[in-house]
Amino acid sequence: MATPAPIIAPSILAADFARLGEEARAVEAAGADWLHIDVMDGHFVPNITIGPDVAKALRPLVKIPFDVHLMIAPVDPYLEAFRAAGADYISVHPEAGPHLNRTLKRIRELGAKAGVVFNPSTDPSVIQWMMDEVDLILVMSINPGFGGQTFMHSQLKKIERLRAMIDETGRDIPLEVDGGVTPETARLCVAAGATALVAGTAVFRGGAERYAANIAALRG
Ligand code: DX5
Ligand code: ZN
Repeated sequence: MATPAPIIAPSILAADFARLGEEARAVEAAGADWLHIDVMDGHFVPNITIGPDVAKALRPLVKIPFDVHLMIAPVDPYLEAFRAAGADYISVHPEAGPHLNRTLKRIRELGAKAGVVFNPSTDPSVIQWMMDEVDLILVMSINPGFGGQTFMHSQLKKIERLRAMIDETGRDIPLEVDGGVTPETARLCVAAGATALVAGTAVFRGGAERYAANIAALRG
């Protein structure tokens, strides 16, 4: 049986911030499945991006789910604001707070899907005893903070390990990869068991007339 095409989540970090609304609409029209929103605080990661008000302003412009990647610490005080801004998936790094289980439960209480993000050094065992609380798993194939970095092949083994952990649950938990995803590395991720791909540079390169082809190339 052929592997189903992966979910494609363009990261607006690589969009033209002066025309963010248009860019979000353009990737939706080009076939994006989710919109990946990278939130950075200049503290958990060495870069500052956008907050809930920007997500809120974009929400009425597109229908596709918002896949919000929080690279902030502490994270708990901001969950409600991102949910209110229209986040469908809210993903957090285990290192962003002392009680990952509590944070995931809170995300679900707010009505969103709860995601866990793995830094390149984070071990899959972090979620071993809480697979029932997880709705999305996001593997970073770069160190978080910036777009345009090179894919770390060392993370393919981790994707395989997490694939096995998901299969054991019998639940359809999306396994997403973020960082340095190109048509070439996308194939490696899917072969390792990924079902969703974040891409900034690889989607937004070449201008809006290229977005559909760029997204199609990632689907393989
Ligand atoms: C980095 C972000 C990524 C980033 C990916 O911390 O989490 O989502 O935008 O950018 P590319 O696809 O250019 O590696
Ligand atoms: Zn991201």
